[in-house]
Amino acid sequence: MKNLSGTNFLLFYFLLLFINTLAYESILYNETEPGLKIERILTFRDRTSVITLVKPINESCTEPRINLRVLHPNGTIDASEVDYPIPDFNFCRGTDEEFFLFDIDRSFPESLYILYINSTDIASASYYVLLVTRMGQFISNTYIAPISILNGSISSNGHITSHISEEYGFMFLNYETETVVMWIYFSKPDDEGKLSLLNKGKYYLQNSFDEYYLISAIGGSYAFIATTTNPTDIETKPNESINPYEFTYKVYMSFIKPIMNGVDGPFLIYQSAIPHLNVDAHCDATYTGTGYFCILLLERDKPKKSYLIKKISIQNSGSVTVMENFADINVDADVVDKRFNNLFPGGFLLTLFRNTTDSYLKTVEGILLYNDGRYYGTWDFPKDLKVSQYYTMSGYRNRTMLVINQEDEMSWRVLYTTLPKFTSDDYGYENPNINSTYPLINSNIPLSVTNINITYHSPIAISTNNISIYQYRNDIDLPILRQSIPGNSPYFSYSPDNKTINIKVLESTFNQPNSNYYVVVQDDAIKDWNTNQPLIGIEKNRWKFNTNESIGRFSMTEEGLKFFQNLSLNNQRKFLTQLRIDLASSIPVDINRLDDIKCCEYDNSQIPPRTLLSLAIKSTTDPNERNVDRILKDLDILIKEKEITPISWFGTTTFLDASFGFQRTENFLDSFKFHLIGIIIVIVILGLLYIYAKKRYPLGKNIVIFKFSLIILNFILGIMFILSNGKKVPQLFIPSIIFCIIPITVNFMISIIIILREIKKNRHFYKWFKNNTNIAVLFTILASTDLEMLNILSSQVAGIMLFSASISKKTQSYIFWGSLIGFFIEDIPRFIIQKVNY
Ligand SMILES: *[C@@H]1O[C@H](CO)[C@@H](O)[C@H](O)[C@H]1NC(C)=O
Ligand SMILES: *[C@@H]1O[C@H](CO)[C@@H](O)[C@H](O)[C@H]1NC(C)=O
Ligand SMILES: *[C@@H]1O[C@H](CO)[C@@H](O)[C@H](O)[C@H]1NC(C)=O
Ligand SMILES: *[C@@H]1O[C@H](CO)[C@@H](O)[C@H](O)[C@H]1NC(C)=O
Ligand SMILES: *[C@@H]1O[C@H](CO)[C@@H](O)[C@H](O)[C@H]1NC(C)=O
Ligand SMILES: *[C@@H]1O[C@H](CO)[C@@H](O)[C@H](O)[C@H]1NC(C)=O
Ligand SMILES: *[C@@H]1O[C@H](CO)[C@@H](O)[C@H](O)[C@H]1NC(C)=O
Ligand SMILES: *[C@@H]1O[C@H](CO)[C@@H](O)[C@H](O)[C@H]1NC(C)=O
Ligand SMILES: *[C@@H]1O[C@H](CO)[C@@H](O)[C@H](O)[C@H]1NC(C)=O
Ligand SMILES: *[C@@H]1O[C@H](CO)[C@@H](O)[C@H](O)[C@H]1NC(C)=O
Ligand SMILES: *[C@@H]1O[C@H](CO)[C@@H](O)[C@H](O)[C@H]1NC(C)=O
Ligand SMILES: *[C@@H]1O[C@H](CO)[C@@H](O)[C@H](O)[C@H]1NC(C)=O
Repeated sequence: MKNLSGTNFLLFYFLLLFINTLAYESILYNETEPGLKIERILTFRDRTSVITLVKPINESCTEPRINLRVLHPNGTIDASEVDYPIPDFNFCRGTDEEFFLFDIDRSFPESLYILYINSTDIASASYYVLLVTRMGQFISNTYIAPISILNGSISSNGHITSHISEEYGFMFLNYETETVVMWIYFSKPDDEGKLSLLNKGKYYLQNSFDEYYLISAIGGSYAFIATTTNPTDIETKPNESINPYEFTYKVYMSFIKPIMNGVDGPFLIYQSAIPHLNVDAHCDATYTGTGYFCILLLERDKPKKSYLIKKISIQNSGSVTVMENFADINVDADVVDKRFNNLFPGGFLLTLFRNTTDSYLKTVEGILLYNDGRYYGTWDFPKDLKVSQYYTMSGYRNRTMLVINQEDEMSWRVLYTTLPKFTSDDYGYENPNINSTYPLINSNIPLSVTNINITYHSPIAISTNNISIYQYRNDIDLPILRQSIPGNSPYFSYSPDNKTINIKVLESTFNQPNSNYYVVVQDDAIKDWNTNQPLIGIEKNRWKFNTNESIGRFSMTEEGLKFFQNLSLNNQRKFLTQLRIDLASSIPVDINRLDDIKCCEYDNSQIPPRTLLSLAIKSTTDPNERNVDRILKDLDILIKEKEITPISWFGTTTFLDASFGFQRTENFLDSFKFHLIGIIIVIVILGLLYIYAKKRYPLGKNIVIFKFSLIILNFILGIMFILSNGKKVPQLFIPSIIFCIIPITVNFMISIIIILREIKKNRHFYKWFKNNTNIAVLFTILASTDLEMLNILSSQVAGIMLFSASISKKTQSYIFWGSLIGFFIEDIPRFIIQKVNY
């Protein structure tokens, strides 16, 4: 099957044409202005794509702006542009006619790198990288390198290639001279968007302007691929009529690591001197298995126009292991152009272009190949799809194929289709070497888990890098490292067939209920047992699971408790098992969501004291299932209304105490953590204020700082009590309002009387009052919460003149008595109501 050729191939082709008929979708996007041209498409892992457009103004320049169209997975498109003044000349073609001076690439997980030159003045020009969001908002700007000057003008070849792994940054490359390529490896941006240098160096080409490119390799490395063609002298080859195009073709590969001076190679991985019209090499890291591969597309004209496809497999050491021939694809003579894409995660696409009668339009045809080169079929787009401008991109994860086609001056169209699975299954780890793990992705684990394990498809061994467990919270973007296990650690053990690796986990690792965890397996933490080649790992946020469960408590009737206590230990266990089963069928819920029931905890804080049982309910990620809160509520209602619910139908559940219901056990520290922190902060602030006031003016009654805070707090708590609890017992709602309003009114009136009396009788007070009317009025009103407030006016706290009113001894005693009465008519009734309420 591997070497399909001639009629066999055609037959297969037609069979598949009928089998693989999948649908495709298309979205037409109308621009608001004419003349925008698609520049490139960047696809992200969350299935969002960013399309960049430029607007040409003449042969060599575009308008100085980068338009962004963000295509969301739901099909909507947001329009935006890069919000940064990139100098105009970056929007003109450079010495190499192909490129605009600026370059743009993805910065995972969701931003963009834009490379540009800050000036055309050769003396002071440099490359910079701008980091922006996908919508074009500025994040940071970083100096990268000086420009290089080739043949007297600025080389326009500087470009960036970002690493496919989210953990790494990007490589900047540029011709330093015609035969020297300089490269600089930058880290991924830190939290502030800062980039830092990881490695830099030079690559010496065989010939001027040899072609080169980069691919992402495992462990944050890049593989640098350089191809060189040496046309042999035609004179020395006598039989010109057979092949005037003979040349030797070589492919070299080097590995650049993300550490200073970390470079291996170059290794010669392919060389040929057979007659070919043209050779293209497409190298990549293997998605399954290990190492790298290069697909060589050898285009032949004779005897018929055809493409011979070869695949070379390469190990990390640079040695070539296998060279195999792929499909030999015959194409019609009218194919004028072709492209080759490696698809994620596996499989290949060969796109062929043919002329149409309209010189602007070409037809495109896509041929899909399996990962091992077998012919799969064609893509789903119509065979006569005509395009003027065309881009393909394989989307992440969902293997979506995008084709973007410029329709006319005002609009363009996105066509997309979901591609078949070409490789062995990937179970969500984005690592097809993995068969399964414990815990599974998105599963719930009990807190008692002390081991995790990973099962591979083939035997493996531990290598040098780490496996790390992180705890994370959705609202805070700072994962906490719980445990990191390096390769030589005794925490690892293997299954007998060496396919499963077991990792012992400290008891302290999964010690938080209701928490989320993920495990990161670095590249080269695990290697292949047979070949010793490092395997790719699992990136963060893939292998996620949690300890989500809520514990609730319930109680038994007296009769039930007696029955239970009279059972033998063994029968008690049986009873609890049966109770769990019966509860699951009463709710009803999958029994696996209920943990084992624990008995018995004697709680004398209850009135009357009770014996309680506890049950943990595990959460689920299935959106169709009820969440934990819902189950807690349902169970509470079911037990409270047990007379009319299934609870009374089962032999075990009928013993449950309806008056207690099912109550969630609050994790005290968890629910009050923030209150406690708040209270401590307030106390510290008040303490500091007090110390400050005391220092400034030791004679003042500085203690009023605390008094004031306590009065206000008491008042707020009173109001909150009415709002939150008063309503629970409706018959007490009115009394609690009355016992709130009456004291306020009384206090207010007394405070007015006191102030008026002082103004009339106390000359000193009157003088103070004239100068400080506002503050006096404010405190008269505040005194309606507590008359003690008036004493603050004469406190001289911190020596502030505002608070230096002189209040007569007599009035001070009124305030004291008024405040005492207020306590009796306000706080005591509230206390009583509160007690009744519970
Ligand atoms: C785009 O314009 C075409 C006509 O030029 C119109 O038929 C189509 O509805 C428009 N589409 C949108 C999404 O506005
Ligand atoms: C294109 O336009 C730019 C900016 O207006 C101008 O500097 C440049 O000379 C023009 N080039 C050509 C070939 O017209
Ligand atoms: C599509 O997704 C984007 C981004 O998530 C969102 O802002 C937008 O409202 C969605 N549109 C529709 C129609 O759902
Ligand atoms: C360009 O950047 C270089 C390096 O930071 C600096 O020396 C030079 O002044 C800049 N030129 C302009 C025009 O900003
Ligand atoms: C350099 O410039 C000269 C004359 O302008 C030209 O003949 C030559 O091809 C150029 N070399 C390169 C490598 O572009
Ligand atoms: C040269 O080509 C002719 C056909 O074009 C062939 O018959 C002949 O054998 C070739 N000679 C050699 C030395 O390959
Ligand atoms: C295809 O069209 C292009 C122009 O669009 C032309 O240059 C080329 O010669 C044509 N090729 C064939 C095989 O017709
Ligand atoms: C893949 O795409 C299909 C249809 O577009 C969608 O129903 C499915 O949920 C997607 N799968 C993932 C994993 O995003
Ligand atoms: C992985 O660990 C779990 C829990 O200890 C165990 O039940 C399971 O059998 C292990 N899997 C393998 C393949 O060893
Ligand atoms: C994956 O594991 C299951 C059982 O755990 C086994 O039946 C299956 O053969 C494994 N698949 C591969 C490709 O190893
Ligand atoms: C592995 O973890 C250790 C600490 O446990 C750390 O020092 C080391 O740098 C880590 N190795 C890698 C490659 O991250
Ligand atoms: C598993 O690995 C160990 C140590 O490398 C080796 O001795 C053993 O033969 C391997 N077992 C299998 C089934 O490959």
